[in-house]
Amino acid sequence: MSVRRLAPDAVQPASFVFDAANENWVDQQIAKYPQGRQASAVIPLLWKAQEQHDGWLPRAAIEAVARKLGMAPMRVMEIATFYTMFNLQPVGEHFVQLCGTTPCALRGAEALKKVCQDVIGPQSTVSADGKLSWLEVECLGACCNAPMAQINFDYYEDLTPENFKALLEDLRHGRPVKTGSQIGRSGSEPVGGGETLKDPALYDGTVIGAGDWQKRVTEQRKAAAEAAAAKAAAEAEAKKAEATPATASKPATDTASPARPQPSSPAQPSGAANDTPATQGKIDDKSAGEADKTSKLRE
Ligand code: FES
Repeated sequence: MSVRRLAPDAVQPASFVFDAANENWVDQQIAKYPQGRQASAVIPLLWKAQEQHDGWLPRAAIEAVARKLGMAPMRVMEIATFYTMFNLQPVGEHFVQLCGTTPCALRGAEALKKVCQDVIGPQSTVSADGKLSWLEVECLGACCNAPMAQINFDYYEDLTPENFKALLEDLRHGRPVKTGSQIGRSGSEPVGGGETLKDPALYDGTVIGAGDWQKRVTEQRKAAAEAAAAKAAAEAEAKKAEATPATASKPATDTASPARPQPSSPAQPSGAANDTPATQGKIDDKSAGEADKTSKLRE
């Protein structure tokens, strides 16, 4: 476990101020919190200060954050020294955090510490070229691929003394490196590939439901297609009927309607189209009688 102390005075800068862009960012973070609760922004501000100051927090930065938030410097110091995400000592361009907790230790982390000492130097010191520094840390949550190390923001897993040494040299010389497992395993599956759930039948859906889901789905699709076709045919038929002009059968249809007023009603217009065949017959009889009467008068 690393000791959480401020860096020696010899490496502490005299002052710290956020640059213009970061000052603007800081104000935006503080504005997220209600009046009187600005101290809630302390961790984002410390993180931004560390980012601006080459990856570590000097005393001046801690005090600048305290002033910005109206906090006692000791309160901010307590936070900066508690969380290991804040580096209190200078770090290299590539900051190696080597996990030394039990699973990684059982898988060879001790040998990796020796590589760090040989390639970089003592813990919490920066290599002469400024490229590398290292620190032993507690579990980083990738025990399944132990042993591992975090370098800046990336994880490197399944490390061996050989591939770890080569990795550090590649980083030092700016060569491209591979993140994640160094032995090519996918995710956290067993070394050499997956050993379970390999039956392709597990992935064709046959284990779902009663085992005849494909037949059931086919039938459901067929029924849905037939229903859609029937609906489309009915709609087409209805449109066709609307487009057809009214025919002689319409009066008969109207007569069958019980709600329609009778043509003999005084309020009902006496148009021929509204008269029933029976009524029309009476009218025709009456007209014939009138014509016969007129004919007799003429005689
Ligand atoms: S013990 Fe090393 S990552 Fe968990």
